[in-house]
Amino acid sequence: MSRRHKILIVDDEVANLRLLNRVLGKDYEIIEATGGQEGLQVLKDNEVSLIITDQRMPSMTGVQLLEQSLPVRPDAIKILLTGYTDVQALIDAINAGHVYKYIPKPWDADELKLTVKRALESYELKLQNDWLIKELKSAMTELEQLSMGTIRALADALDAKCDYTAGHSLRVSRISVLIGKALGLQEEDLRDLELGGILHDIGKIGVPESILWKPSSLTPEERDIMREHPLKSAQIIGELRGLRRARDYVKHHHEFFDGTGYPDGLAGDTIPLGARIILVSDAYDAMTTDRPYREAIGHQKAINELKNKAGSQFDPKVVDALLSITEAGVDALNKRIMEEFGDNFLGLGLTGIDARTTGKKYRAELNRKTRVAAD
Ligand SMILES: [Fe+2]
Repeated sequence: MSRRHKILIVDDEVANLRLLNRVLGKDYEIIEATGGQEGLQVLKDNEVSLIITDQRMPSMTGVQLLEQSLPVRPDAIKILLTGYTDVQALIDAINAGHVYKYIPKPWDADELKLTVKRALESYELKLQNDWLIKELKSAMTELEQLSMGTIRALADALDAKCDYTAGHSLRVSRISVLIGKALGLQEEDLRDLELGGILHDIGKIGVPESILWKPSSLTPEERDIMREHPLKSAQIIGELRGLRRARDYVKHHHEFFDGTGYPDGLAGDTIPLGARIILVSDAYDAMTTDRPYREAIGHQKAINELKNKAGSQFDPKVVDALLSITEAGVDALNKRIMEEFGDNFLGLGLTGIDARTTGKKYRAELNRKTRVAAD
């Protein structure tokens, strides 16, 4: 055994303590106590691995001592000795759930030694397990922080490439969460939606700016390149366990309800719900903000468009949920977004993005370039 364990032995008869000490004292550090109170004090002052106690003692029974030892030394292994067949004590001890072994008196020295050896082995094993679990937990936390850092970096990178896209992703993320809430999704799903929303277009980092910012319609080749972005987004998110569902939402956020979307042509309920939600909030946001190829069409027209395509492009129940959160108009929606999310986003401050004004900057720049070209 890798360490010299401390064993507390408790018995009101000193002769019994001597006997136990003689059998175990060679291999372990023994601390004696003649009663429960004294035993508890020993436990407070010493890192005891094993408690061996007599059941029948004047002021506190062995079972009571073992129970009271729990808050002090929860991990210590507990062995109960009893000189007569006290069925109730046995049942109590087992029900208390923390007795490793019950040993009837008179005990055999070799058997006791073996029991103690096994008990301490299981004590060490438990300590080792606890340590491993602690290590694992801290590794998981580290990994989670790492992936949040990665997301922050990705969001910032996209922000740097195109302020319009980043502001858009932020709004899509928030509208998606509101739709999710309207559909009664659980906290965990909302988190995945939030992540999926912010990351859904991250793959556009790999799309050339000439295509991304093209003010006219795309050629078939350009469209093919553009259509790779959900898969690219999913690839960037990678295989991180905690992001698996968000990644699926991202991968499928251009699948249409009738199966005519991409990349996999999924239809109906086979499209992850999160992806169907992101599609609707994506479309709503795209229509209500300026785009390189056209100006915003406004809330009412956007709503009409979504209604028209409910059942073909969009999941009707998701469209209904969007209608319910936009009923009071765009200003009310923006107000709600500011109230519910504030400036904080998953703990990320997306630098320089104002979700209400992005797109305008790009549009202004585009107008300037057009004017310069015309002069
Ligand atoms: Fe997209």
